[in-house]
Amino acid sequence: MATATRTYPISTGAPLRVDLAGCGVVGSALVRALEHGGDALRERHGLRVSVGRVLVREPEKRRDVALDPSVFTRDVSTFLQSNADLVVEAIGGLEPALTIARATLERGATLVTANKALLATHGSELAALALRHGASLRYDAAVGGGVPVLRLIQNALGAGTPSRVRGIFNGTTNFVLSRLEDGWTLDAALTEARSRGFAEADASRDLDGRDAADKITLVAWAALGVAPGTLEADRRSLLPDPARFGRLAARVGGALRQVAECGVQDGHSYAIVEPLVVARDGALARTRDEQNHVELHTGWSAPLSASGPGAGGLPTATSLLSDVLSTGSAANRPRPTLPSTRDTRPSTWALETNASPSDIHAEVRECGVVRTDADASCAWTIVSAATRDEIDDIIARLTARGGDVIAIRVDDGVAVSGSESHA
Ligand SMILES: NC(=O)c1ccc[n+]([C@@H]2O[C@H](COP(=O)([O-])OP(=O)(O)OC[C@H]3O[C@@H](n4cnc5c(N)ncnc54)[C@H](OP(=O)(O)O)[C@@H]3O)[C@@H](O)[C@H]2O)c1
Repeated sequence: MATATRTYPISTGAPLRVDLAGCGVVGSALVRALEHGGDALRERHGLRVSVGRVLVREPEKRRDVALDPSVFTRDVSTFLQSNADLVVEAIGGLEPALTIARATLERGATLVTANKALLATHGSELAALALRHGASLRYDAAVGGGVPVLRLIQNALGAGTPSRVRGIFNGTTNFVLSRLEDGWTLDAALTEARSRGFAEADASRDLDGRDAADKITLVAWAALGVAPGTLEADRRSLLPDPARFGRLAARVGGALRQVAECGVQDGHSYAIVEPLVVARDGALARTRDEQNHVELHTGWSAPLSASGPGAGGLPTATSLLSDVLSTGSAANRPRPTLPSTRDTRPSTWALETNASPSDIHAEVRECGVVRTDADASCAWTIVSAATRDEIDDIIARLTARGGDVIAIRVDDGVAVSGSESHA
């Protein structure tokens, strides 16, 4: 994804001067990719890259990168006293990333970032700064890791606009859900995800959907022209017990994935992040471990889709490097924006509670078969043709009866095993 029109001196023989903010999982993978791919970059792209300054928290820390120790600094103002052509921001979080982004764009340089939280919060401001100062802002790596989600939206549809975009955008959550499917415990799945560099110490932003909400905000910006800050994703969390959602999805004949979606409905834009019951043999269920997946629904016979590693140092660094190589000719100029709304499409839902089956019969209108597990500790049913508001209302009423309730939307086309019932 890019804004504005600045290009830099590819093919002139002069090296591209790059400063790097952050040299952790992603930043260090980028340095190694520049080193190992140096010949290919020169031969194929006529590009030589020289890394000038590197901002980190602990300059003395041992890092697996071939950089002179003198390039490291912990001081943001020293880092910013630079005339680099391009700054790669791979720190994450809001500060000092925002200060670095503003300073880079204000001096007309190119900013390449993988920071979805920064863009989801300050994207409009940074895009406007880039336009005002003839700078470039590129952030393909912020969504999809190694899957070029934003580039696909921007480059694959000509002048077309998808009616809806959905996908799996959180590698940590997908890794955890795949392992739970295989019978692992949540703790074991998270420990494994952390040891592979896919999960941070606190994975709650992943599992409760906040990370995917930041990403669907950027997808909606690219696909629908809805500026960040004007569309809040309707978010349903997998916490506190993702395994419980997985069991309910299996009980009704599907698989569980955390899916994010944005689209247009009656002239309004909407965005959702939710646990979704998906068909066991479909593309979403086949997206396993840290993979990400995106589907662009365009009205063609099938959605345009892409899958691949959605987390990890090298895939994300590769996406950053693609942004470094691209020449920013496509502008993300402000477009008229759509008003936003809550999704009101009726759907099928799997609903489970530890309240009694009679409570379900009492609160779900025209309720059909209610099943219980062997020791009758929980009961579940299928609720068809219910909107989000209606299902929230049912959850509230069952909760008021003392139930501990979860509900998952069931994707279109999943042959649910359960009952005929109506909200
Ligand atoms: N990891 C992934 O799979 C992945 C995938 C897609 C996108 N991303 C995005 O990529 C970005 C970087 O992620 P990461 O996984 O590489 O993070 P990380 O491993 O935690 O690395 C962060 C780097 O930033 C430095 N840093 C942090 N706070 C700083 C501060 N206040 N001042 C100076 N330096 C600071 C750290 O310095 P020290 O090394 O000295 O601690 C470290 O080098 C984030 O925006 C993340 O969302 C990551």
